[in-house]
Amino acid sequence: MLNLTPMESTTAPTKPQFSPAAKAEIKRLLTHYPNDRNKSALLPVLHIAQAEFGGWVSPEVQDLVAETLGLQPIEVYEVATFYTMFNLKPVGKHVLEICRTGPCMLRGSDELTAHLERITGAKVGGPASEDGFFTLKEVECLAACGFAPIVQVREKYYEKLDTPEAVDAMLTELRNQVHRPILPWEEVGLPNSLKNN
Ligand code: FES
Repeated sequence: MLNLTPMESTTAPTKPQFSPAAKAEIKRLLTHYPNDRNKSALLPVLHIAQAEFGGWVSPEVQDLVAETLGLQPIEVYEVATFYTMFNLKPVGKHVLEICRTGPCMLRGSDELTAHLERITGAKVGGPASEDGFFTLKEVECLAACGFAPIVQVREKYYEKLDTPEAVDAMLTELRNQVHRPILPWEEVGLPNSLKNN
């Protein structure tokens, strides 16, 4: 069984390399585009890179993405720094993306944020909680306004977080999650961040 300890997820190697499984997935992705249009695969490849290297894309990882796609590094930097879904600093094991747009705000996202900061010890936009489990981030509408207030953690939405009990249940579930979800391209191998765990 794999065990990803919180702080291991925050360190990117100096000279990162994609795992064989990730390389295979990138190769498959590139078949979707014309040969001279590798840049079209930049967003999905950045997602793969973020998943491979502990939940964030360091400058070295962005350089690897550029090298892999045959792009200038600046072409990767400008995309990675534009989209908020890419983390540019080390993060905790779980990144809690708290929706702060109108409907969620009306349903208590400010109180939810304050509550999460109090419980986890992490601050929105700041470093991870001391135990390494949680990073808090504010994001715009997650397109699930009918279930506000919402927190997204990777591919999962936690909905109607308007009671302490609902928040506690989410945090307990996340704390007890010792295995990171296996991503599609990992079915044939493991990413670097999970090796030796
Ligand atoms: S406003 Fe929060 S999901 Fe739309």
